[in-house]
Amino acid sequence: MALRLIHLIAGARPNFMKIAPIVRALQARADRFAYRIVHTGQHYDHAMSDVFFEELGIPTPDHHLECGGGSHAEQTAKIMVAYEKICLVEGAKPDCVLVVGDVNSTLACSIVAKKLHIPVAHVEAGLRSGDMAMPEEINRLVTDSISDWYFCTEPAGVANLLREGKPESVVFNVGHVMVDNLLYQAEQLSRADTSGFESEGIKRKLGRYGVVTLHRPSNVDEEVTLRGLAGALSTIAKDLPLVFPVHPRTRGNLQKFGLDLGPNIHLTQPLSYMEFLNLWKDAALICTDSGGLQEETTALGIPCLTLRENTERPVTCDEGTNTLVGTSPDDILREAGKVIAGQGKQGRRPALWDGQAAVRIVAKLDQLIIH
Ligand code: UD1
Repeated sequence: MALRLIHLIAGARPNFMKIAPIVRALQARADRFAYRIVHTGQHYDHAMSDVFFEELGIPTPDHHLECGGGSHAEQTAKIMVAYEKICLVEGAKPDCVLVVGDVNSTLACSIVAKKLHIPVAHVEAGLRSGDMAMPEEINRLVTDSISDWYFCTEPAGVANLLREGKPESVVFNVGHVMVDNLLYQAEQLSRADTSGFESEGIKRKLGRYGVVTLHRPSNVDEEVTLRGLAGALSTIAKDLPLVFPVHPRTRGNLQKFGLDLGPNIHLTQPLSYMEFLNLWKDAALICTDSGGLQEETTALGIPCLTLRENTERPVTCDEGTNTLVGTSPDDILREAGKVIAGQGKQGRRPALWDGQAAVRIVAKLDQLIIH
């Protein structure tokens, strides 16, 4: 039987760690599948892209669309035009396009595939924040409205899709590929020599510390909001020094608004996966607006405060170590105080977050794709 050809779409930083375990699972079934990696180029700085390919052991992309920058419409449109050309090359039309997460690349490639009658598999499907001001919520809704197969990370994803009318036969709770990658990389890290790591030097210097990441437009694009968050973080840092690897969007806005985070917040460039894992796995507290980090901290049992008003990942609060605190400085300071005093929330790792999600996805695709 001819091999089934899968396109794996990756474009922005949080996509790279999600496709790595899928690549490994497809390689293990090379008797059934061939795959091509399509990098849309949504993220393009070395620190936001290439370093992950090098470190996570992802093969070099087969197609590089170089569609970085621009407004949402420009970025999405550029990716659609470029990706359609790849699909239309004679003999290259895939049997399935696999998209992950909720970034603009996910949206753009799923639309292109669907209009070319190529089945779309959405990994991390069904998550809903209910917040239509989030670009990711729109991406999730549109992608899920046209996908063929839905691979969910938690029960809420399954429930949302069924409520929206998807048949049970195409919705699968498989666990989380991001956790597959985390467990794999944590094992590699435990055997690595970290003495030359930038994060190791910071850890030695600070002793007990917290970690911050912030990049959501709703938190960093408005001066009043970013100023309030910066003030709260500076206050926390008087009790617990903080390390803050700064996303390019956030760095630009901190500069634009002339915000100074004070002497106890250590700013770095965006860190590679291993450098960042080495940092946060030993943190006393994480403050973040990232979706992925809410889940990764739950997987490793690290206290996490999510500086947002909603989360599309409720299992991290219901079962894990995540607390949704919002963006009011008083609330953030109160909850951070509890964690610093050792009264942070305990949690457990959700069902199926066991490192085998990608294997389950590939086994399912093997049944689903009719060649
Ligand atoms: C994107 C995703 C978001 C994800 C985040 C992770 C969408 C709608 N958003 O947001 O869900 O959590 O990635 O990082 O897809 N920039 C650089 N270098 C880069 C990449 C970006 O300088 O390598 C700057 C550019 O000024 C760019 C801006 O950051 O315009 C924003 O990048 P973009 O990809 O549009 O969105 P993110 O905020 O990164």
